[in-house]
Amino acid sequence: MKKFAFIVHLRASYRKDMQFLAAPLGWIPDSFYRFALRNRPLAPFIWSDVHVTSEATQAQGCVIMLPYSGQQLLEQQKAMMPRLQEAVELASSTGAEIVGLGALTSPITLGGKLLTTDSPVSITNGNAFTAYITWKKVAQLIQAHPNRCPTVALVGATGSVGSLVAQLLATHQPEANYLLVARNERKLSALAVAMQALDACVRPKISLAMDAVRQADIVVLLTSAADALLHGKHLKKGAIVLDDTQPRNTHPNLCKQRPDVTVIDGGLVAMHHLRLTRSVGLPPGLSYACLAETMLLAQADHEGHFSIGNPTLAQADYISTLAIRFAHLGFELSADYSFGKPLARSVPARLTEPAFTLSSTR
Ligand SMILES: NC(=O)c1ccc[n+]([C@@H]2O[C@H](COP(=O)([O-])OP(=O)(O)OC[C@H]3O[C@@H](n4cnc5c(N)ncnc54)[C@H](OP(=O)(O)O)[C@@H]3O)[C@@H](O)[C@H]2O)c1
Repeated sequence: MKKFAFIVHLRASYRKDMQFLAAPLGWIPDSFYRFALRNRPLAPFIWSDVHVTSEATQAQGCVIMLPYSGQQLLEQQKAMMPRLQEAVELASSTGAEIVGLGALTSPITLGGKLLTTDSPVSITNGNAFTAYITWKKVAQLIQAHPNRCPTVALVGATGSVGSLVAQLLATHQPEANYLLVARNERKLSALAVAMQALDACVRPKISLAMDAVRQADIVVLLTSAADALLHGKHLKKGAIVLDDTQPRNTHPNLCKQRPDVTVIDGGLVAMHHLRLTRSVGLPPGLSYACLAETMLLAQADHEGHFSIGNPTLAQADYISTLAIRFAHLGFELSADYSFGKPLARSVPARLTEPAFTLSSTR
């Protein structure tokens, strides 16, 4: 097995994430951190060792922290590039041969493209497996939905994860109605055409407005914004939201304002033996799907870069076969969580039933 590294950034705020380093750091207000650290080039550092298998006595990988918030990454993309390159070099110095890109480190590097030139390691943005895991969950939700042909909104449909989820759904669930939402109309139209080419029955609608999401029974959130984009006013009664975003584009208050709505944390993978020396904000035994892709490629001794930019259907197929090969370690869709807690509301039993695989639904 190759060694791997996974690059993350602060998820919410300095205050919230620093308390994982030492509890008193969580009492310092964010404004102080922002003032003290403004315009300082902060070096990435090793946040956590990672053990994937139960018998591992030494770390099989690590998580590298880029100490900037999602907002900072989006606002200062150019300034972040040298920091990301430092993170890749740090990964390489630990012996890692495969590096995965967590959260917004992928969108700001064009899905990893900007890091591939002269890279000492293989890069993956982790989005082929993320799309595959997300598709599996959406397929379950469609099958269990009381409407025979529910409307599924893909918000952030044209992105690296979104475009592959859309193609998987067009291929395997052509019966549903699809609404594609993002800000670039040209890309949305091209994706709608690509979905129709996969199955002529699929006739997606496109929209640039979040308000259009109110038509949807199932909303899949795949945007790369730094804060909450989806609000109660955007959702129809009883809507189910699958939120893949990191940092989250839904606010915990959403469920208080709209108790009729169910929010499920998306892109989560069950990993039976996974151990981290410091949390990345998930309950034990769970991994982000993009981290899971990095671990899968490392387990398989993969050579070369993998998911770069928008991954393809063939890559989803390949990574799903690796997930089956290493199923003794997990690499499967997790149980339902909502804002990090096991989903209290009972989702109809059918939602958790069929285990879709790419080969079984073709
Ligand atoms: N849970 C996991 O394991 C996991 C794994 C991978 C990624 N993720 C998360 O998934 C999300 C998407 O990642 P990605 O790599 O696919 O990002 P991406 O390639 O940048 O795609 C983002 C998509 O969102 C749209 N978008 C961005 N800002 C928007 C806004 N304000 N309003 C409406 N649409 C907006 C973009 O299109 P326009 O620019 O045209 O609007 C694009 O369609 C990120 O939050 C990432 O952290 C989670």
